[in-house]
Amino acid sequence: MIKKNGNEYLRPAYLEIDLKALASNVKKIKRRLGKKIELLAVVKADGYGHGAYEVSKTALRNGAGSFGVAFLEEGIELRENGIKAPILILSPECYVREKKLIEYDLQPVVTDLDFVNDLEKEAKKQNKIAQVYLKMDTGMRRYGIEPSLALAFVKRIQKLKNVKLKGILSQFSTTEDEDRDFAEKQLSIFKKTVKKIEELNGGRLIRSIANSGAFLKLPQSYFDQVRVGILMYGIYPSPKLAKRVEVNPVMSLKSRLVQIKKVEKGESVGYGRTFITKRRTKIGTIPLGYADGYPWQLSNQGEVLVKGKRVPIIGRVCMDAFMVDLTDLPEVKTGEEVVLLGKQGKEKIEAHQIAGWAKSFSYEIVSRMGKRLPRVYLK
Ligand SMILES: Cc1ncc(COP(=O)(O)O)c(C=O)c1O
Repeated sequence: MIKKNGNEYLRPAYLEIDLKALASNVKKIKRRLGKKIELLAVVKADGYGHGAYEVSKTALRNGAGSFGVAFLEEGIELRENGIKAPILILSPECYVREKKLIEYDLQPVVTDLDFVNDLEKEAKKQNKIAQVYLKMDTGMRRYGIEPSLALAFVKRIQKLKNVKLKGILSQFSTTEDEDRDFAEKQLSIFKKTVKKIEELNGGRLIRSIANSGAFLKLPQSYFDQVRVGILMYGIYPSPKLAKRVEVNPVMSLKSRLVQIKKVEKGESVGYGRTFITKRRTKIGTIPLGYADGYPWQLSNQGEVLVKGKRVPIIGRVCMDAFMVDLTDLPEVKTGEEVVLLGKQGKEKIEAHQIAGWAKSFSYEIVSRMGKRLPRVYLK
């Protein structure tokens, strides 16, 4: 079994988070941005499954200047763990949550005047200034106010005493694609509107539109702040964008074989009897399943690494276990390490590959890794 430290025994199904790889990725990204452009490390969804607090600490030491989370509770978690850097709430928040936002000095994006007015009242009550980012919709059609309404919106904010506009933010919808026309169009709308807002505001605001894809493909979109998520975790937003900046994966998913058995040709394996053995088969059982975030779609599709070799998943992935075919590995014993994501010997399985088998994409694969999996941090 795996020892964490002292007598503490870990579940033999765990995530290894390589903070040295993370540190190096963050440094490389920051180096390209230079001193003047802020790196906002996106640590929402528990740091894309890697552990928001550990990721934030490492990112901060290696060049990140601020953090992005999806909603209030994710911001509070960082503050309660002692993260003091600016934290931006990337999705618009709802009414009645402004009290905590201000208490914890979290910077919300705003898209709604009623919400802004509530922020003003609460900030006054707490004798604080609420710093906000205007979220603008330049083409994503998800969140954000229309560029044509942005100036009027800013004028209303300017009338308030306890709410201060700190920046303007928008999100690209296509940067991981090879076709950059739509991103250029969004960029042009963003630039034009920001210019007008800044004239009205009489001062510079933080301009923020680039994510990992834009970081790799559109340097003209860096402005004052670049919001990097997936690339910091060592995964390219699309395999097509690989190698423009060399990063290494931070997350590995590892386990152990807990049982090995031999069955005859013609036997069925697992729920639903979806796999029938075509030969006398050595089956290995691995103690983690879809309740841990390992996709059920990998049933009869995926592969794992054992003794540095790829072996296929046979039968359906269960809630807490799944089976692989070990017949071609003569020397294997129970307790043997299994790598589901990451490197073993000369072989590796990347998030993109799991995503391909699962008909998903890499962001989902890492961010849905379950809370039941212990995280082991390599420092
Ligand atoms: C508003 C916003 N900014 C930045 C990011 C980071 O994107 P990426 O992980 O592609 O760098 C996200 C992620 O979805 C986001 O929603």
